Amino acid sequence: MNGTFYVIGVGPGDPELLTLKALRLLRNCQTLIVPKGHEDGNSTALAIIKSAVPLAGKEIIEIHFPMKKIRMAAAPDPEVDAAWHLAANEVISRIRSGHDVAFPTLGDPAIYSTGIYTCQTLLELAPDIKTVIVPGVSAISACSATVGIPLCLGDDMMAVVPATFDNQKLTEVLNTFQTVVLMKVHRVMERIVKLLTEQGLLKHAILVERTSQDRERIIHDLTSVRPDELHYFSTIIVRRRQQ
Ligand SMILES: C[S@@+](CC[C@H](N)C(=O)[O-])C[C@H]1O[C@@H](n2cnc3c(N)ncnc32)[C@H](O)[C@@H]1O
Repeated sequence: MNGTFYVIGVGPGDPELLTLKALRLLRNCQTLIVPKGHEDGNSTALAIIKSAVPLAGKEIIEIHFPMKKIRMAAAPDPEVDAAWHLAANEVISRIRSGHDVAFPTLGDPAIYSTGIYTCQTLLELAPDIKTVIVPGVSAISACSATVGIPLCLGDDMMAVVPATFDNQKLTEVLNTFQTVVLMKVHRVMERIVKLLTEQGLLKHAILVERTSQDRERIIHDLTSVRPDELHYFSTIIVRRRQQ
């Protein structure tokens, strides 16, 4: 009998933010496919689960997913597509021999996660395979909790966008929604600070770096940030409302 493929959200860093379901499935799966953003780097998802899930005896396959822009209306970059296919094929061979396979992914799988692209590629190649998505605590919720600022109340609307969007798009979003969560800010910090200043929104913006991880930082004055020191795990919440 075929095994099952699980894409499992493992939260933003603190292992205590793993769900009971994530823990049970990660403990039960014989094989883990773990994503990493740099060829010679470590997998953050693996680091998060290490202290909570016994890994001895499990097969752990680390796969490098290049960090390149993905446009939903365009064909993927060939390197990125190759990584999705590599991961999907590794999964298919294990599933066909009856193993359950888990793909732990940072935060929640529904939000900019490599796990979903792998799952979609897998289903294109082998539509009969059973796949299950397990939600996790997103960095978005974790950052909001860390700074004690709600994301939406009452009739508020919220947008979640990559900070790498161009200024025109970002300006539209910033002027439409009461709360805007900017992800992937680390490489475009200077431009974002300038834009928020021009829009009169700097005082409403807070940056959270590495929430629920070692060296967590909460930064209220975005002009004090040295962009070259900013970690990839950095998110800005812009909330125009005062509460
Ligand atoms: C590829 S997205 C993955 C989001 C993830 N699926 C989630 O639900 O949190 C990566 C972005 O998430 C945000 N992020 C992830 N972990 C974070 C953390 N611990 N603290 C702050 N931001 C984080 C950053 O904006 C980072 O650039």
